[in-house]
Amino acid sequence: MPKPQFLAVVSAVVVLLQMTSGPGSGAQPPSTVERRQQAMKDMAAAAKTIAAMFSGDVAYDKTGLQEAASAFVLHGSELSTLFAGHARSESEADDQRIAAERKEFDEIAAGLEELALVFYRKAARAGDVLTPDMRMGSSVPGGGSLLGARPSRTEADLSAIPAEHLFHMMLETCTTCHSKYRLRK
Ligand code: HEC
Repeated sequence: MPKPQFLAVVSAVVVLLQMTSGPGSGAQPPSTVERRQQAMKDMAAAAKTIAAMFSGDVAYDKTGLQEAASAFVLHGSELSTLFAGHARSESEADDQRIAAERKEFDEIAAGLEELALVFYRKAARAGDVLTPDMRMGSSVPGGGSLLGARPSRTEADLSAIPAEHLFHMMLETCTTCHSKYRLRK
């Protein structure tokens, strides 16, 4: 076996040994609390990017918008699982209340995921400039936030809403959940 290849095999074996040699050695996989806090931080960073693009503080770029949008889809879909009762001191989550109001918590999380998917599809179809129809204030058949609050909203309803408005509806979802289920704000 040529030397570089041999070295590659050896280092792969070393990595494997490190991974299997149990607690205390090497990095631990992140705990559920760390994972959910990281998911939240990723969404906050994505929200900042998107807000800056809509406000013109940073130049709009299609790929950047899509990437940021995908963070909401990814994390929105895992929130229910990441908050399945892990009360720990370093967490800001009101785990007891989440457990007691499981259905409502999951509905808020599902609401975020639903908005995120429609937003992501719009971002994926967006062109090289932000067109007026992606903007807040372009006409919304059936009416804006009223529609957002309506429990029976359909995906077709949501698709009629401009991207920037959907983004604001997503941010409302963050606030709704935090005001109920996050202890320190
Ligand atoms: C379904 C409920 C829910 C939704 C929706 C939600 N959050 Fe959270 N968020 C929480 C809870 C609960 C915590 C506390 C988590 C912990 O400490 O274990 C939290 C924590 C955070 C934190 C602090 C993370 C840290 O530890 O540093 C940030 C930032 C955050 N959320 C941003 C967002 C943003 C941005 C959105 C919307 C795109 C959002 N969240 C949507 C429930 C939610």
